[in-house]
Amino acid sequence: MARIVTAADGIEAALAELEAGRTVVVPTETVYGLAADAANGEAVARIFEAKGRPRFNPLIAHVHDREMAERVGRLDVMTGRLADAFWPGPLTLVVPLRENAGLSPLVTAGLDTVALRMPRGFAHELIGRFGRPIAAPSANRSGRVTGTTAAAVDADLGDRTGLIVDGGPTPVGVESTIVRVEGGRIVMLRPGGVTAEEIEAATGVTVERTHGGAIVAPGMLASHYAPRAGLRMDSTKVMPGEALLAFGPERIPGADGAVASLNLSATGDLREAAANLFSHLLALDRSGAASIAVEPVPTHGLGEAINDRLARAAAPRDGKI
Ligand code: TXA
Ligand code: MG
Repeated sequence: MARIVTAADGIEAALAELEAGRTVVVPTETVYGLAADAANGEAVARIFEAKGRPRFNPLIAHVHDREMAERVGRLDVMTGRLADAFWPGPLTLVVPLRENAGLSPLVTAGLDTVALRMPRGFAHELIGRFGRPIAAPSANRSGRVTGTTAAAVDADLGDRTGLIVDGGPTPVGVESTIVRVEGGRIVMLRPGGVTAEEIEAATGVTVERTHGGAIVAPGMLASHYAPRAGLRMDSTKVMPGEALLAFGPERIPGADGAVASLNLSATGDLREAAANLFSHLLALDRSGAASIAVEPVPTHGLGEAINDRLARAAAPRDGKI
């Protein structure tokens, strides 16, 4: 298993891993990231190796400040406004890649765009010390539930990375929102920690959604966030033998008979629900129930990202669970 250090004394150890071209798991405000030097192709390849991720998935380049962002990508007026409003924070901006960006092409998977994000917390401080971008997908094996605690990451990836920096449970709990700006239009490629409503309030521009078609953000592949158990969304009752993922103060019929039961937020708070989402899914998965009934979660605000992740977790798995 990996060596686990606390965030308080993890900076030097994490820097040493990055400098040596190895991966290191670091906390961000959204989820844990499996980080490596974005300029070092071998280091980035280790990320794919550890995750068992299809190579065509581009990664997010995490930056410390606007200057670092401008060194790798071109931020136009609207992306600049979004960065001003939400960085550091859970918003990723897909922008044109600079020719001399210095990133390994593995990071962008050969695209002429790059996904940029300025995280909060330990990761932010680490990148500042490191002095150049780090690539960091969510710290989970491809297709598995995203890690929001060091223990969950250790169980999933501990034998595939040398060091995990423990910063406690990640406060946001779902990945960043990904948007692309096209001629003043804002297209949401993945819902996440910043809501469409917040983006609209900050910019005055209506956020557009992508509707199926070509894979623009492969994180949107169905079954990307799959627990082992099956998931029944918007359940109206708990079936015999099922576990229950509850939401809010009121229970659906059959809840008392659930094999295991956890509430995303007893008060119906979507922010708390997002923070609990992946850890609760993992815990219910461990109960051994073949299926998890999920109570309806509202679709407004952060509920959009929560329902998106639940729908992916509920999707058929093409046979490989
Ligand atoms: O909150 C987060 O964003 C976390 C933490 C660790 O920062 N990171 C994360 O990374 O979720 P990852 O690699 O699991 O998801 C990145 C998503 C992928 O779905 C990828 O396809 C998309 O970003 N992406 C990356 N570059 C892109 C690009 N140039 N155009 C469109 N989508 C892109
Ligand atoms: Mg991911």
